[in-house]
Amino acid sequence: MKAGTKDSSFHADTLAIHAGQRPDPTTGAIMTPVYQTSTYVQDGPGEHKGYEYARTHNPTREALEKNIAALEGAKYGVAFASGCAAMANVMHCFEAGDHFVVSDDVYGGTYRIFTKNFAKLGLNFTFVDTTKLDAVERAMTPKTKLVWLETPTNPMLKIADIRRISEMARKKGALSLVDNTFMSPYLQRPLDLGADITLHSTTKYLGGHSDVVGGFVGTSDEAFFQKIKFNQNSIGAVPGPWDCFLTMRGTKTLAVRMQRHSENAQTIAEWLTKHPQIEKITYPGLPTHPQFDLAKSQMKGSGGMLTFVVKGGLPKASSFLKRLEIFACAESLGGVESLIEHPAIMTHAGIPADMRKQLGIDDGFIRVSVGIEYVEDLKKDLDQALKA
Ligand SMILES: Cc1ncc(COP(=O)(O)O)c(C=O)c1O
Repeated sequence: MKAGTKDSSFHADTLAIHAGQRPDPTTGAIMTPVYQTSTYVQDGPGEHKGYEYARTHNPTREALEKNIAALEGAKYGVAFASGCAAMANVMHCFEAGDHFVVSDDVYGGTYRIFTKNFAKLGLNFTFVDTTKLDAVERAMTPKTKLVWLETPTNPMLKIADIRRISEMARKKGALSLVDNTFMSPYLQRPLDLGADITLHSTTKYLGGHSDVVGGFVGTSDEAFFQKIKFNQNSIGAVPGPWDCFLTMRGTKTLAVRMQRHSENAQTIAEWLTKHPQIEKITYPGLPTHPQFDLAKSQMKGSGGMLTFVVKGGLPKASSFLKRLEIFACAESLGGVESLIEHPAIMTHAGIPADMRKQLGIDDGFIRVSVGIEYVEDLKKDLDQALKA
């Protein structure tokens, strides 16, 4: 896109490739260069081109921030070194005594950073089932400053009503945030639904190739932006320019990848529903999902994440995971390749056992990140490992 073009007037498929990307002014290189520098030369003291020091400003990072902000429909984007760094920087916008209502089934690292790092600084957290509007309302107090939603949740894929909860938070003077990692802005745009802040582990679908770790916060709230932008520089958990470049290379194919992730996951979910070795399957695109209608109303597709329970508990789950040939047994998600894992032992080991049990993360529970391979090969692989 030419400089001065209004990014927001284009479709997401176009924005993914062009938003925030300008040909390099010195050479015309079509790809944003990796500005691998820690400082910038000034013509004289204070006579600079808007760039003084790379923790504060980096053109590669700025291109990434503009790109994801455009995809999210956010006025501002702020990039971080990881999803957890993004979360920490959000929480550092608040103060001791502030209260937060949080989805009870958040990513294990989110639960850990809130309960182990921020609780001791005097921030208070109430974890509730955010599929229940009355539970969210009951949990809010006059000190509640933010409602933190993850939707769909990791790993139970519970879906919270972003419109109604954001409205509820606003009426009570609190902000609302959606961890949009599982959907990506291609399938869900929280700010359009009324949320104030959208957050990502760009390590997942935005990067899309399991080769880079990063985080992102998007907002159109000027006051919140000023605080988090200050924190980005003051705390310094910024991504390096190579990581920004790699993440941008990922976002360019976001539209086609998300379509294929959703198609493959839908096919596998429908097929697993009839598989004799499967006890229960959860996928937002199945009519049996408890929030199927809500999912349809706020998501453009059902995404690549699904979970199921294998019959036979831990011994069966463990032998099944070892026998797979295409699916790699690994943490993380959102890459082009299919990944599979055992949340109780792997990603969610940090959640107390009784809480895991309450949520349904039991011994036979498996989480799948369906990749973009040929779907019949994926089915064949799952089938041989389940039958063995
Ligand atoms: C939903 C969600 N949010 C945040 C994170 C944390 O991101 P990162 O690993 O990039 O720090 C993860 C990581 O798995 C996640 O799944």
